[in-house]
Amino acid sequence: MKMSTVSGLMWVEKYRPKRLEDMVDQREVVESLTHLLSRPAEMPHLLFSGPPGNGKTTAALCIARQIFGEGWREFTLELNASDERGINIVRSKVKTFSRFRGMSTELPFRLIILDEADMMTSEAQTALRRIMEQSAERTRFCLICNYSSRIISPIQSRCAIFKFRPLPREDFESYLSRICEKEEVAFDEDALEEIYRISRGDLRKGLNILQSSASVRGSVTAEAVRDLAGVGLVAGVREVLESAVSGNYIEARRRLFEYMGTLGLSGTDVIRFMMTALEEMDRLDSSIVDVLAEYDFRLLEGANEDIQLSALLAKLTAAFQGS
Ligand SMILES: Nc1ncnc2c1ncn2[C@@H]1O[C@H](COP(=O)(O)OP(=O)(O)OP(=O)(O)O)[C@@H](O)[C@H]1O
Ligand SMILES: [Mg+2]
Repeated sequence: MKMSTVSGLMWVEKYRPKRLEDMVDQREVVESLTHLLSRPAEMPHLLFSGPPGNGKTTAALCIARQIFGEGWREFTLELNASDERGINIVRSKVKTFSRFRGMSTELPFRLIILDEADMMTSEAQTALRRIMEQSAERTRFCLICNYSSRIISPIQSRCAIFKFRPLPREDFESYLSRICEKEEVAFDEDALEEIYRISRGDLRKGLNILQSSASVRGSVTAEAVRDLAGVGLVAGVREVLESAVSGNYIEARRRLFEYMGTLGLSGTDVIRFMMTALEEMDRLDSSIVDVLAEYDFRLLEGANEDIQLSALLAKLTAAFQGS
């Protein structure tokens, strides 16, 4: 979700590289992919693995752009394996998508980007393997995961595997400093170091902390960064919960997604901070803990984050009105 901040656009999207050679680091991956792209018709299925926020989805989108050109969206299907838990949905989408043949590409196939492939059960992966075989003539898959070891071996053996490294500190920090310069935001070197430490090399998280520090505090200092990433996190959740306590569900939900978007938080992070915030607000009783535990578990099982968090907030809002 987009939110208006300093520039009106989230920096993670604004600065997402459009070409492989513009990516930060990942030299080996970029070199081999560039080599593959010199003969796109012979491109195999791809499997990208590595820690969060280091360029996997970005690279997949660069490939789509580079092989299909301008109208790449028409030839690219982006699916999220954990959103679409039912493999049947994946199957029918792939089927519909690969059946349709556009006129404006010379390539005989379409690209299907399947994010979070390692969230699929092994049964679903077995079904996916069949889908890949059945649609082989007209599709190439780019599977994305955090751990390639969680992908069943018959799929691994059908793909060219690319391991994305955690971004080195120097590249990470110098990239952030270039963005500060472009955005004309003042920054301290030690603040960038702090961002690297907190985000553990996850550039999405890093850019989001950078942007919120710039937009909330007007500059990027180590203190602002620590504040926004630590204490500020609980305070942010607290605002969300206060709207819920006052019975304003719509407002609570809006704040929640805005807050998650700016800081790049995951659903499980949010539930953890909710626990602390509710304790501070003296609202933590056994029934509330039960609710948090239930939703934490659902997220862990891979349920849709937007839906689950919306439902969690609705439940909390109702519980507060009853107490
Ligand atoms: N190597 C990189 N070069 C340039 N920008 C990057 C790189 N990695 C991440 N980014 C920035 O971080 C954002 C998130 O990156 P991306 O979506 O590619 O991460 P990911 O590896 O797919 O993460 P996840 O595993 O969480 O899906 C991008 O929009 C981009 O701005
Ligand atoms: Mg991704």
